[in-house]
Amino acid sequence: AVVRDLAGLRVAISAGGTREAIDPVRFIGNHSSGRQGYALAATALARGAEVTLVAANTALPDPAGVRTVPVRSTAELAEAMRAAARDADVVVMAAAVADFRPVAAAASKIKKTGAGPAPIELTENPDILAELSASRAKPEQLVVGFAAETDDVLANGRAKLARKGCDLLVVNQVGDGRAFGTPDNEAVVLAPDGSSVPVPHGSKESVADAVWDAVAARLP
Ligand code: C5P
Repeated sequence: AVVRDLAGLRVAISAGGTREAIDPVRFIGNHSSGRQGYALAATALARGAEVTLVAANTALPDPAGVRTVPVRSTAELAEAMRAAARDADVVVMAAAVADFRPVAAAASKIKKTGAGPAPIELTENPDILAELSASRAKPEQLVVGFAAETDDVLANGRAKLARKGCDLLVVNQVGDGRAFGTPDNEAVVLAPDGSSVPVPHGSKESVADAVWDAVAARLP
């Protein structure tokens, strides 16, 4: 039987990948499927939590029993997560957020002019994880971030944990077909106390359960 160790807790989870409009038909996006975030939502629900899932451009069925909020852009995801975080005990940013967006989306489809491509001017998106970590709805709220690293996984993960100011950082090694869009995952959970807990290779559900174990161990 599943231990309902998250009963009475509200959790807000982001999943998927944001898309930034270039024009009405094109966007800047990424390959995130949302599967890890959905697995976090399903396992949190099974462990008794009340779950809000902010889903960016995923093609997965809405999990039953979870409040799912669909979003597209980083601005929409930020707004939905700020709202969900207001009464959340745990906030998990599992979405792949676009670092940059076009300064403005063209109102109509960009045409070939024969004069070569027009440059797309980009501006930086806000770091939602850093923002939610810095401005918590209550001091005991736990904030969890994810990081995908291709090399120097631990060193880069530690630096990122410090930079973001979150309580846990789940670091995945990506590249060579690992993690993105695959059913399996493998990770290390880093905490500011210097601990690093390896999560063995397994389903995204098993990685999600390991993340909730780390969260449950830190609950007030
Ligand atoms: O900096 P990096 O993109 O590697 O950080 C990944 C973590 O930060 C993820 O938890 C992601 O959801 C979050 N993030 C964010 N806002 C951004 C970029 C990343 O919340 N603009």
